[in-house]
Amino acid sequence: METVAPAQFIHVANRHPLSDEERGRLMEAPVFGKVFTDHMARMTWREGEGWRERRISAFGPLPMHPGAAVLHYAQQVFEGLKAYRHEDGSVWLFRPEMNAARLAASARRLALPEVSEEDFLAAVSGLIEADAAWVPSGYGSSLYLRPFLMATEPSLLVQPADTVDFVVTASPVGAYMAAAGEGVSIWVSRDFHRATIGGTGEAKTAGNYAASMLPQGEAAEHGCKQVLFLDAKESRYIEELGGMNVVIVRSDGSVLTPRLSGTILPGVTRDSILTLLRDEGRSVEERDIELSEVIEGIESGEIGEIFACGTAAVVTPIARLVSDDFDVTVADGSAGFVASTVGPRLTDIQYGRAEDPHGWMRRVL
Ligand SMILES: Cc1ncc(COP(=O)(O)O)c(C=O)c1O
Repeated sequence: METVAPAQFIHVANRHPLSDEERGRLMEAPVFGKVFTDHMARMTWREGEGWRERRISAFGPLPMHPGAAVLHYAQQVFEGLKAYRHEDGSVWLFRPEMNAARLAASARRLALPEVSEEDFLAAVSGLIEADAAWVPSGYGSSLYLRPFLMATEPSLLVQPADTVDFVVTASPVGAYMAAAGEGVSIWVSRDFHRATIGGTGEAKTAGNYAASMLPQGEAAEHGCKQVLFLDAKESRYIEELGGMNVVIVRSDGSVLTPRLSGTILPGVTRDSILTLLRDEGRSVEERDIELSEVIEGIESGEIGEIFACGTAAVVTPIARLVSDDFDVTVADGSAGFVASTVGPRLTDIQYGRAEDPHGWMRRVL
């Protein structure tokens, strides 16, 4: 067990926090990302000065110049991670260094200044300390943290901004896991792509998500919950969903997932699940996977299971893949053995119910 570095951000307490009663009401059944805590963390970077003004203060609007570069050119990157309350009341983060490293990698791609791991952890853990009462208890509930970097220089010039803000907000979220046994239908998009080679696919940046909304609407029109994107060059290989990675399980128990080709977001959950599956002694292959191989594998029964994974929902079984020219159901359409065992194994580690063999958990409170 390692402890997160002590907060070095100045804490200016919100003078008007919500009452216990109001907070309790908001935390009863929070809609994902709609409820925010009393505080936020923030620091500002200026060319030639570096990062300054580290503070944790009252949550509220961010005053912004209408010419702020982020509003015009989307020079922005973000992260998503959770704080988990264990049964003894302690509060923990799961592999936050991976989020810090991914934010730094995303920042490099978007020509934004990097946030050091130390600042990242201090901002996140300081905010959790300030809003400790907002960390829900109960298996499946957590405090979702949203660190982001944005170009705030007022300038319409298309060039890297000389003023950038780093902000972290926190939102209590309820149990969000798909009901066991239930799989979702996924639309395979032929007309739209998420990422191109040399583009921003492996960065966690706003534009990738903005571009996924139209295909997401197309998926909904076809009765599907989410979109599976194909590679942009040949529309031949499967990549990932709009906000989750994809894992395939063959009927012999071996596991297959698209390799991190530069167009796919390197998910923390993906890495953790692949590690747990390798621990089980399973063969895990990361490589290019053709859509036709997936469809044929589902039809022949060689592929017994497909699931998506990410921080928000952990593991979501995929029941059906649909597009204009095919509609295939995976096995009997219900969650397979691997999805329904590896998901809970990971959450058991996150909630302190199981041993943490890889030393992934970081105690905050
Ligand atoms: C495009 C995309 N892929 C995959 C993931 C899963 O990543 P993680 O497991 O780190 O949440 C996310 C969520 O952050 C995502 O937005």
